[in-house]
Amino acid sequence: MPTFSPRFQRKLAQCSSFSAALSSLSLPPNSTIVDFGCGSCGLTLPLALAFPELRFVGVDIKKTALDLMEARCEEVGVTNVETALSDIGAFEGEYDVAVSLHGCGQASDAAILHAVDRGRPYFVAPCCIGKVKFSLGTASAKKENHANHEGGSGGFASRTAGEGFDVLSYPRSSWLREQQIPTDVFSRICESADSSFMIEGETMNDVAVGQTSAFEYHRRCCNLVCLDRNMYAQERGYACWTCKMPGLEGSAKSDLLVGVPSNAMH
Ligand SMILES: C[S@@+](CC[C@H](N)C(=O)[O-])C[C@H]1O[C@@H](n2cnc3c(N)ncnc32)[C@H](O)[C@@H]1O
Repeated sequence: MPTFSPRFQRKLAQCSSFSAALSSLSLPPNSTIVDFGCGSCGLTLPLALAFPELRFVGVDIKKTALDLMEARCEEVGVTNVETALSDIGAFEGEYDVAVSLHGCGQASDAAILHAVDRGRPYFVAPCCIGKVKFSLGTASAKKENHANHEGGSGGFASRTAGEGFDVLSYPRSSWLREQQIPTDVFSRICESADSSFMIEGETMNDVAVGQTSAFEYHRRCCNLVCLDRNMYAQERGYACWTCKMPGLEGSAKSDLLVGVPSNAMH
């Protein structure tokens, strides 16, 4: 029996979850899946191999990553993948479903925003929410390009990574904004929700924060950030779930955010 590294096993578990999620949609042939923040192929290439009847577009701001992806696709003879050098917010291509695996910090929110603006289902596995750099106030922030979600009271804004085509406001949902959580408290929640809080191969259960284990504290912060993201999409007419990716339980990067336009549910 071959033995696989822990990293390989995690990648396998992630790709299996995305594959199951895509299968659940029973997409017609030639449907287009966009992978936001695709990197050098971690998710796009395995999915393209698993679904040769679908078309994939990998979007990233790093040309070197896209060059590597193209070389790897060529190496294994995959022809249903295209790449687009673009910031997520600036991507103008048409697509049927958005996926994103570990778009750090705001990149996950940019992917959700892009899909929701176009009424497309999305599957987003976020990471590194603590990387979101919040700037206080909203006076200089451009409005997000949808109604009913301006940087109102209790909100604060920051640019997306890359070229900064979008300005994303935090908290994402009106629901959480209405709780009037102070900016520094929300920032701390995001930092504690950050996957890097978990040290690879270690369990944090023994480390206590007050009466709560550090991992439990991390999970609660993570759940709140996921809930805020889900509530944002729900407020815009989506049905949303936070799923656990099988095989990654206990890992800090086990969440898969699923959003489907409510009017497409049957
Ligand atoms: C942690 S890597 C994940 C790569 C890949 N999805 C995987 O799981 O192997 C995050 C990727 O998102 C890209 N990225 C971050 N912000 C982005 C943005 N605003 N627009 C496009 N790509 C972005 C980065 O360049 C990087 O390649």
